[in-house]
Amino acid sequence: MNVLILYFSATGNTAKIAKVINEKFKEEGFKVTMSDITPLGDRQRKINFEPYQGVVFGAPTHARRAPRVLRDWLRTLDGKGKKCSMFFTYGGFGVHPAHYSTREILKEQNFIVVSSADFLGSHTFNLGGWRALEDRPSELDFEVAKDYVELTCKRFTGEDDRILGELEKTEYTEEQLNFAETLRFKKVTQLPTRYGEECIMCLDCENFCPTGAMDAESGEADKEKCIACLGCVYICPEKVLKINDMSKSWSQKLDKEKVTEESIKEQKSKIYF
Ligand SMILES: Cc1cc2nc3c(=O)[nH]c(=O)nc-3n(C[C@H](O)[C@H](O)[C@H](O)COP(=O)(O)O)c2cc1C
Repeated sequence: MNVLILYFSATGNTAKIAKVINEKFKEEGFKVTMSDITPLGDRQRKINFEPYQGVVFGAPTHARRAPRVLRDWLRTLDGKGKKCSMFFTYGGFGVHPAHYSTREILKEQNFIVVSSADFLGSHTFNLGGWRALEDRPSELDFEVAKDYVELTCKRFTGEDDRILGELEKTEYTEEQLNFAETLRFKKVTQLPTRYGEECIMCLDCENFCPTGAMDAESGEADKEKCIACLGCVYICPEKVLKINDMSKSWSQKLDKEKVTEESIKEQKSKIYF
């Protein structure tokens, strides 16, 4: 049986989980193709789902949904009635309604969604001074990922013929969520910038940027295109690309969400069936 894993990962968390999922599917006797769809060019290739019995989509959570560019890309796919599963990584501050909203898109694109899961991961804003889940995902999360694959295998093969059950909805419309996504970006993060530091012009940031927003020459990202995924800051080998200092907003965020650094760490990765 053939399985295709497609994942978007700007700072490596979703990629780490995808790797564990890949190995576990293989252990269960599946033939697996894994593809990183983070770079823009890799989402421009046409994908033929015909050879696969199951497809797995992995994504980070950006403002409580899959990143905008990924949602846009999902809307271009033709699922041909294939079974699929989803998984998300998130930085400890809430993952809903990512499951619900992504499933709605996948259903519209003619996929049958059979399962989902979410995994804790270091928050991308740690690169700018936050301190959320610095050591996640860890073995704890990888064990949940393996259990998720075992259950998903049964749904892909039809041994368990059920599909994904009810998911937590949201009272907000897509328009309201879109607004929150851009507002949050404008308030908390600024554009990744080189602040005039010397650069070896390796162009890694430009090549990796999932939206084509980064310009290595000027060392700045395009305001309209950047989704603040921080992939460029993460990947820069010289560490000359930086995000603004968000240390102050870290304690504000904890207060606003009524959580502590300790209580965030107590959360567990979850499977949805
Ligand atoms: C723009 C942006 C928005 C985010 N929004 C959320 C959020 O709403 N809730 C949350 O828990 N984590 C949030 N995160 C953290 C990421 O979901 C988390 O770090 C994720 O594991 C990153 O995955 P990656 O390393 O595969 O890119 C956000 C990160 C970014 C960059």
